[in-house]
Amino acid sequence: MTEQTRTGIEGLDSILGGGIVDNATVLISGNPGTGKSILGLQYIYNGATEFDEKGIYLSFEENAEDIAQAAESIGFEDWRELVDDDQILIYDKQELLRHNDFNATLDRLLAAFEETEYERLVLDSLTMFELFFENEQEKRTYLLKFSDILKANGLTSLLIAEQAAVFPEQDIGLENFLTDGNIYLIQTPTESGVNRYIWVAKMRKQDIETDIFPMDIDEGGITVHERAAGFSMMGGQSDSFPGE
Ligand SMILES: Nc1ncnc2c1ncn2[C@@H]1O[C@H](COP(=O)(O)OP(=O)(O)OP(=O)(O)O)[C@@H](O)[C@H]1O
Ligand SMILES: [Mg+2]
Repeated sequence: MTEQTRTGIEGLDSILGGGIVDNATVLISGNPGTGKSILGLQYIYNGATEFDEKGIYLSFEENAEDIAQAAESIGFEDWRELVDDDQILIYDKQELLRHNDFNATLDRLLAAFEETEYERLVLDSLTMFELFFENEQEKRTYLLKFSDILKANGLTSLLIAEQAAVFPEQDIGLENFLTDGNIYLIQTPTESGVNRYIWVAKMRKQDIETDIFPMDIDEGGITVHERAAGFSMMGGQSDSFPGE
C-alpha cells in the first residue's frame, strides 16, 4: 500500500482514502474567505501535534505574528511554542521579500529544503508566488523545479491558489498539471450566513470520493461532514441529507 500523510482533519482523510500520498503536491483552490489558510494551518498544526511530523509554512501574505494570531484564534493555542521548538518552521512575508532578487531568495529556500527533516509544507499562496516571475517561461521553469525539490526531499505539500470564480472559465492553469491533487473549497451565501463545501476533484494514485461534501469552520478549524454523500451544493439546505 502507498504510504499516506494524514491531514488529521475530521472527515477529510476518509474522503481522500486515508490521507494524501506521501510526497504529493496538492493544490487547494477557493475564493477569498473559503478557508484555504485555515486548512493549511490545520494541516501543519495536526502534523506537529498528532503525527510527530514537522511542518514548514511559507506565507507571502502575512508576517509570523499574523500567522500566530490566526492560528490561536481558531484554537491552536500552542502554535507559538511549536514554532519556538522548531516543530513548525515559518518563512513569512518579511523573510521572503527581504531581498530584491526574488530568484536568489528562492534558490536559498530550495537549498534549505534539501535533506530537510520536515515532512509537510504549505505555500500561502502559489498565486502570490507566481507574481514574482517576469514571464511564462521563467514561471514554468521555477514551478517545475519547486515541485521537484519538494518531492525529492520528502515534503508532502499543499499549495494554496486564490480563485476569482467558483468554476473559472479561463484555461486550466499550468499549476493544475504540476500537482498531484486538486481540492476546491466552495462557499455559497444563505440567508443566515454561508454554506461551506469541499470537493476533492483529483488525487493521483488514490481512490477518492469525488462528491462535494459540506464542511464547517469553527473553534478547532475545519470539519468535513462525509455522511452527506451525493449531496448537491445546488440544493441549498445543508440539513437535508439523502436517505434521512
Ligand atoms: N474561529 C472561527 N470560527 C468560525 N469561523 C471562522 C473562525 N475563524 C475564521 N473563520 C472563518 O474562516 C474564514 C477565513 O478563512 P481563511 O482565512 O482560511 O480564508 P482564505 O480562503 O484563506 O481567504 P483569503 O483568500 O482571503 O486568504 C472567515 O471568513 C471566517 O468566516
Ligand atoms: Mg488566506
